[in-house]
Amino acid sequence: MCGIVNCNINGIVKTFPVIYGSLNEKAINISTLREQTGYITFDPGFKNTSIAKSSISFVDGEKGILLYRGYPIEEIIQKCTFLKTSYLLLNGELPNEKQLHNFSYMINQVNISNNNTKILQIFEKYPINTHPMGILSSLSSILEFMQEENNNNIFIHLLAKFPILAALIYRKKHGLSPVNYDNTLYYTSNIVNMFFATNNDKPNYIIVDALDKLLILHADHEQNCSTTTVRLLSSAHVSLYASIAAGISALWGRLHGGANEAVIEMLENILHNGGNIKKWIEKAKNKKDPFRLMGFGHRIYKNFDPRAIIIKQVAENIMKKLKFNNPILQLAKELEEVAINDSYFIEKKLYPNIDFYSGIIYQAIGIPKDMFTVMFALGRLPGWIAHWKEMRLNQEPLVRPRQIYVGYKKRNIL
Ligand code: SDX
Repeated sequence: MCGIVNCNINGIVKTFPVIYGSLNEKAINISTLREQTGYITFDPGFKNTSIAKSSISFVDGEKGILLYRGYPIEEIIQKCTFLKTSYLLLNGELPNEKQLHNFSYMINQVNISNNNTKILQIFEKYPINTHPMGILSSLSSILEFMQEENNNNIFIHLLAKFPILAALIYRKKHGLSPVNYDNTLYYTSNIVNMFFATNNDKPNYIIVDALDKLLILHADHEQNCSTTTVRLLSSAHVSLYASIAAGISALWGRLHGGANEAVIEMLENILHNGGNIKKWIEKAKNKKDPFRLMGFGHRIYKNFDPRAIIIKQVAENIMKKLKFNNPILQLAKELEEVAINDSYFIEKKLYPNIDFYSGIIYQAIGIPKDMFTVMFALGRLPGWIAHWKEMRLNQEPLVRPRQIYVGYKKRNIL
């Protein structure tokens, strides 16, 4: 479907084409605006700006809908594993049995050598207090120069190595010796095994299932800050590895993926200060107070984040099954109940987002706070790769926005 809009600029009518998305999103194509009118647009935070056409995921923020390649997240979480979801995001279609087996086999082949000595040598150089996200970002860049002889597929290489990096970061930060990749295990079972293996017992299925669901829920989310960062680097023809490293750094921000760590710090602080929920809700509403309710609000969702609804169920299930009694979950549920019924949050359409409950599950699994955003990155990796690939396949132009200059007029050094 196509259309046009007429813009009357200072009495002169200019016509611009309209682009319609497959789910009827509408965009005015202003790629000739400056040429036709001498004007540019001003849209801080790109709140009203699309930077490209994409077919990977779709979010309807008003209706609380998330689709991965057209499939609703609620169906994906019921019928797919994270590995199957990764294949879908990367290739556009769900794999048949043979394709999935081959995908898993190729990932296992990369790790068959289990030769992580070079990575371990690099570890020794990091200052002891380096944040796991800083280590993950730098190691992702270096991975490019540590190709495995039996693999020439960079997507497979990253998918195979990322869990090993995450597990090594966790084990090294906690003075534990590394656990080797076990290519008899499923992808997420390997992650749990490499993190927590104590003896040769198999990874706890409850933990594997909960983590697999978390990875699925984090796998992609359109043009979020870190994915747009990866796309931006891809537009400059930066390598996939360096683009992912930049995406990791963008995700680290407290307003973005770093919010999961900030939520637990916030809940623990509320609990340790008497658990007075009303007091903290009032602080969050007070413009003069820098406190924000972490894990609440979203640039796109002005309704419930469908992932937060699922994650809350996963949190309640795992607590029950592991008989894990964490007062933080009860506090989070009470806080949510008060906030979603408060006029400020209702009026500003602030609902719990994916980060509000995820940290509670990571804690129940035994993952420390400073590793929460690393786990987010583990989930988001297939989405980042898919977007990097899409930018290159679509031969998108170099991303280079304009600006409104408000600095000094031309002047000379006296
Ligand atoms: C993720 O984009 C994605 O898809 C991201 C993500 C993904 O999967 O990649 O979904 C993952 O990053 C989720 C978001 C995690 N961040 C947090 O939980 C941090 C807390 N949330 C806020 O910082 C905020 O809600 C943002 C940054 C997430 C969104 O901010 P926007 O869209 O820029 O909206 P805004 O800051 O302009 O807020 C609008 C109003 C403001 O009040 P007014 O100036 O209109 O009076 O709502 C208020 C804000 O002050 N507000 C909040 C609030 N979030 C917004 N007030 C109190 N607590 C909050 N959390």
